[in-house]
Amino acid sequence: MILVTGATGNIGSALLKELRECGAGPLRGFTRDAGRAVFPEGVEAVEGDFAEPESLKSAMDGVRSLFLVSRLGPDADVLEAARRAGVEHVVLVSSITVQTHPHLGPAAENLAVERLLKDGGMAWTILRPTQFASNTLMWAGPIRDRGTVRAPYADTALPTIHPADIASVARAALTEPGHQGRTYALTGPEPVTPRQQAEAIAAVLGREVPFAEIGRQEAHALMAAVFGPEAADAVLDITGGDVNDELLRVRDTVARITGSPARPFRQWAAENADAFR
Ligand SMILES: NC(=O)c1ccc[n+]([C@@H]2O[C@H](COP(=O)([O-])OP(=O)(O)OC[C@H]3O[C@@H](n4cnc5c(N)ncnc54)[C@H](OP(=O)(O)O)[C@@H]3O)[C@@H](O)[C@H]2O)c1
Repeated sequence: MILVTGATGNIGSALLKELRECGAGPLRGFTRDAGRAVFPEGVEAVEGDFAEPESLKSAMDGVRSLFLVSRLGPDADVLEAARRAGVEHVVLVSSITVQTHPHLGPAAENLAVERLLKDGGMAWTILRPTQFASNTLMWAGPIRDRGTVRAPYADTALPTIHPADIASVARAALTEPGHQGRTYALTGPEPVTPRQQAEAIAAVLGREVPFAEIGRQEAHALMAAVFGPEAADAVLDITGGDVNDELLRVRDTVARITGSPARPFRQWAAENADAFR
């Protein structure tokens, strides 16, 4: 049995689909609302919350492999529940910032989860993806309303990754030999700027998407209202304010592991055009 957490999210939903298609055996999707979740046929929905240890216990029953999206709740409790249930292998989604910006709070938290996993006695595979293509969904409202996309660091190009590529690597790690004890930094196939992302969305919509660059202060005020000031600073640093060669570098890890080239941003935009219509 494979338990997929974050199962309704960008990576988890793509992962369940891939696991189902490759006949990976019994699958369980973890969600806080089984009534709302739509999983592929044959996937067992299990309702729970990382914040409720009792729900973890029943979700882990009979599970041999766990796909864990980090920092959705108390990871130490989740890993302990997995260990107690006899889980053998955990594939963890961490973040590339662990190696590019270890001084930032969210990166330090991810590093702490990685260490807990490595010390926990279960086999592990760690995925460290860069910025997701799906982050542009935060522009869906203004684009649908025919407004202007307002973003900082408009011309900073990062090798943004399609979440389905993270899922493909996770599928390989969960179903093929040779991935235990490995840490994979994952990027997309090419650098892309926020301005180019807006242009790619405009191209699939077949209409103009007005774009305006905003300063760090304005962006910070907007983000701090959602994530808090420290996380807002961290996001702004890693999206343009304090980038470094390690973060900017395109890696071939997705292609090496999956045998298929990593998907470019324009593909993600084409597949998700409806969100912006
Ligand atoms: N975005 C980026 O650029 C980026 C970069 C590097 C790493 N990451 C990492 O990627 C992960 C996010 O992945 P994603 O984009 O696939 O997720 P997502 O689309 O944001 O979805 C979040 C998922 O988490 C579940 N969830 C939320 N709170 C939960 C709780 N208390 N207990 C159990 N489940 C909970 C939700 O399930 P229900 O609503 O169904 O319960 C949902 O499936 C995070 O760990 C983040 O740190 C993101």
